[in-house]
Parts: sequence; structure tokens; C-alpha cells
Amino acid sequence: MLALPLIILSLGLSAFASPIVQPRGSSSLSHLALQKVLDDASPIFGYFTKANASYSSWMSQYPDSTQLIHMNIPGAHDPQTWNYSLATQESLNHVTDLDGNPPAPPEFYRCQEKSFIDMLNAGIRVFDIRYAFDVTNSTLVYWHSQALLSETATVEDTLFGFYAWLDAHPTETLMLSFQYEGSTTLHGTDDASVQLALFNLLTSPAANNYFLQEKDQFGTLGQARGKITLLKRFDLDQLPANYSTALPGIHFSPSLWTDNDPDITLVYNTAENLTAYIEDFYEIDSGLGTSAAHNIDLKYNATTAHLIKAATSYPDSLFWSFASSEYDINLDTPMIMALGNGTDTPLGGVNQRLIPFFETMKGKRLGIVMFDFFDTPSNLVETFLCIMS
Ligand SMILES: *[C@@H]1O[C@H](CO)[C@@H](O)[C@H](O)[C@H]1NC(C)=O
Ligand SMILES: *[C@@H]1O[C@H](CO)[C@@H](O)[C@H](O)[C@H]1NC(C)=O
Ligand SMILES: *[C@@H]1O[C@H](CO)[C@@H](O)[C@H](O)[C@H]1NC(C)=O
Ligand SMILES: *[C@@H]1O[C@H](CO)[C@@H](O)[C@H](O)[C@H]1NC(C)=O
Ligand SMILES: *[C@@H]1O[C@H](CO)[C@@H](O)[C@H](O)[C@H]1NC(C)=O
Ligand SMILES: *[C@@H]1O[C@H](CO)[C@@H](O)[C@H](O)[C@H]1NC(C)=O
Ligand SMILES: *[C@@H]1O[C@H](CO)[C@@H](O)[C@H](O)[C@H]1NC(C)=O
Repeated sequence: MLALPLIILSLGLSAFASPIVQPRGSSSLSHLALQKVLDDASPIFGYFTKANASYSSWMSQYPDSTQLIHMNIPGAHDPQTWNYSLATQESLNHVTDLDGNPPAPPEFYRCQEKSFIDMLNAGIRVFDIRYAFDVTNSTLVYWHSQALLSETATVEDTLFGFYAWLDAHPTETLMLSFQYEGSTTLHGTDDASVQLALFNLLTSPAANNYFLQEKDQFGTLGQARGKITLLKRFDLDQLPANYSTALPGIHFSPSLWTDNDPDITLVYNTAENLTAYIEDFYEIDSGLGTSAAHNIDLKYNATTAHLIKAATSYPDSLFWSFASSEYDINLDTPMIMALGNGTDTPLGGVNQRLIPFFETMKGKRLGIVMFDFFDTPSNLVETFLCIMS
């Protein structure tokens, strides 16, 4: 259990009040402008709600001197898919139809059920952001492969949501991983115009205030509170080299991040030999007709093998493990992999099985763990956070 009565007492209810819930009549223009941006962001970001400080401020219990790479930090894989129902898919047909690259049934893409704000309030601190241009090649929006998640909530709008949330939760720090999402529109590519749009977004005056300006170094929690560490799962290889030089954050080049690999070793800082160990085995391609229980077992084994490595080796390196997976053409959707398929999977999905595993890892450093359907079972994140408390 997270025992944090002092935090709840000392922050009281005022910690729950977001800066955006104020009566309109008393609001300044800048406040109304922020309100407008947050309204635009809401299909992806959700609406600000009251939070339980045990989770929304869980980092307050760690000292400033804590190295981020020594922490256990929960993340959400493909968080932008949280509201991707059939109704949402159909409501976006007028956009996706323009391109002739229609999406498959929504359950193939959906990996979450709670909004960004709910994730933040529940303790999630790492977000796996997948961007690409909309069909007009003008605006960076959220996709998961062919699934457009919103035409109106741009990536930029949602960044203002993160900034506003951090202002209300100054003890916390976030990591935003940006990855170009391929297979979105028929002709969409990671070309120079996409890369320039992303560069401009991440070096805007607002971004400069909130993104840490260090490069290829993880710092301490104290340095990072109220700020965002940029995790660059992209290259700016279509732009002159001075653009890459100018952008802060930690570079996980897609050329080094081998696809569908359960055990990646990625040097993100060659000068200092700083290394990340990554588990990203997501396509559980064990052969058509295999059972969900078998595929869940394969994924659970890969994830726990990597978490045991995190607990027992390279204490000063980053560990980043993905508990998320799918085998859609075998009808093992992200939800079935994470949560099981009823009586077919008596041990549950990866998430249910991780809870007793986490309970055996008391006091261990596991690093960053990315979940699908992070809120199920309801004690998953709590059990993970309690490993170190
Ligand atoms: C979630 O999707 C439904 C169906 O498309 C929509 O009515 C609802 O407004 C969406 N929620 C948010 C927060 O946008
Ligand atoms: C917040 O969550 C903690 C941990 O689950 C719980 O003990 C506490 O009662 C909750 N507080 C409120 C105000 O709901
Ligand atoms: C968008 O850009 C791609 C090249 O990346 C191009 O093939 C396509 O025609 C463009 N679409 C529009 C609507 O301009
Ligand atoms: C990179 O160099 C070019 C040419 O000198 C310049 O136009 C551009 O503004 C520079 N970009 C950055 C991010 O420094
Ligand atoms: C870099 O660090 C790793 C351990 O994280 C070690 O195995 C490797 O030998 C080091 N490489 C160099 C060139 O020092
Ligand atoms: C998973 O690991 C367990 C324990 O080592 C083993 O018995 C089981 O066969 C593995 N599952 C698969 C599908 O390989
Ligand atoms: C999930 O369970 C349903 C109902 O028993 C079954 O029809 C379906 O084939 C199962 N799917 C998988 C991937 O096991």
C-alpha cells in the first residue's frame, strides 16, 4: 500500500484544484486562451478532474537527489488510443475517407481506456506519443497506425495539457517519448516537413519552459520536478545536422532500436557510454491459430525476464520495458494480451500476472514499465509503485 497521509494532509484539497477551473467572468484573456486550447485537447487529454494525491503526487515521497534511472516509473503505451471506440472511428471517417487507407476494427488499435489526465492523476509518468501529419500534411496529430485518434486535438494542444498539469503538480516529473507513426495515411512519410513541424513544436517558447534542456543525460528527480524529459524515438535525418544538435532530450534513434526485440542494448550517449536496456517485444507472432493463453505466456516471460535483468544488473543504466503486446491477425488484441480472454486464459492476461510478480520484487529497481490498459486490475500501478516504498 502507498501510505502517504502526510501528503494528503499537507496539500489538502487545494492540490486538487487545477488552475483551469475558475469562473469565466473573473478570467483574464490568457486564462481563456488556455481554456480554449485545453478544450481542443480534451478528446485526447480528457478533462481536468479531482485526483487522489497518493497517486497524483507520488513522486513527492522521493528525495530530490534520487536518480531518475534508479526509480520505478509507470508509463502508458499508445495512450492516445484510450477513447477509440467504433463511435470514435466512425466520427472520424470523414477525415480518414479522404485518404483511402481505412482502419481495421477499433479493438486492433485500442490500448487504453482512461484519458491522459486520468493517467496522470493515477500515477502514469511516461507517455508513448505517436505523431504524424493529418491527411492535409499540415498538422501533427495522434495516430496508431491507420487509426486517426482525433483531427482537432493536435499534439501541440495536448502539450499545453501536460504543462498545465505540471503547474498544478510541481513535485512530479514526466517523460514524453515521441515516435513517428508510420502506415498512417497512404502517402504519409517521415519527411522534412514533418520533422521541421516536430522540431518547431519541441523548441517553441512554451516547450523551452517545460522540457529539460539537457542532452543525452538523465538527471535527478530534483532537477526534473515540474519538467519533462524528452525521449526522442525519432531522427531529424531529413533536416540539416544543426537541427539535431539544437534539440535537447535523450536520443533513442530508431536505427538502433531494433524492431520487436525483447532485449535491446542501445547506447544513447557514446561519449560517456550511457546505455539503455529495452524490452519491446510487441508482435507475439508465434504462428496463426496459437492460443491467447500461449501468447500471453510468451509475452509475460519476455517482460519478466527483462524486469529480472533490471533488478539484478547495470544499476546505473536505464531500463525500459514494455508490458504491452498484440497479435492482431491471430485476433489477440492488445486488450486480450493485457487482460486475458475469460475462461480461455485462466491465469489472466499479462497485467493480472504481473501483480504477483511485482509482489516478489520488493525493494528492486525495475525502471520504466509501459502498460496497456494500465488501470486494470485496479491495483496494478499501486502494486508497481509499492515495490520501492
Ligand atoms: C469519446 O468518444 C465518444 C464517442 O466518439 C465521444 O462521444 C466522447 O465525447 C469522447 N470523449 C472525449 C473526452 O472526447
Ligand atoms: C487515496 O489512495 C490511497 C491509496 O489507495 C488510499 O489509502 C486513500 O484513502 C485515498 N484517499 C482518498 C481521499 O480517497
Ligand atoms: C502529403 O505528403 C506526401 C509526401 O510525404 C505526398 O505524397 C502527399 O501527396 C501529400 N498530401 C497532400 C494532401 O498534400
Ligand atoms: C541551421 O542552419 C541553417 C543554415 O544556416 C539555418 O537557416 C537554420 O536556422 C539553422 N537551424 C537551427 C535549428 O539552428
Ligand atoms: C559500455 O557499458 C557497458 C555496460 O553498461 C559495458 O558492457 C561495455 O563494455 C561498455 N563499453 C565500452 C566501450 O566501454
Ligand atoms: C514461460 O516460462 C515458463 C517458465 O520458464 C515455461 O515453463 C513456459 O514454457 C514458458 N512459456 C512459453 C510459451 O514459452
Ligand atoms: C476469446 O474468447 C471468445 C469467447 O470464448 C472466443 O470466441 C475467441 O476465439 C477467443 N479469442 C482468442 C484470441 O482466444
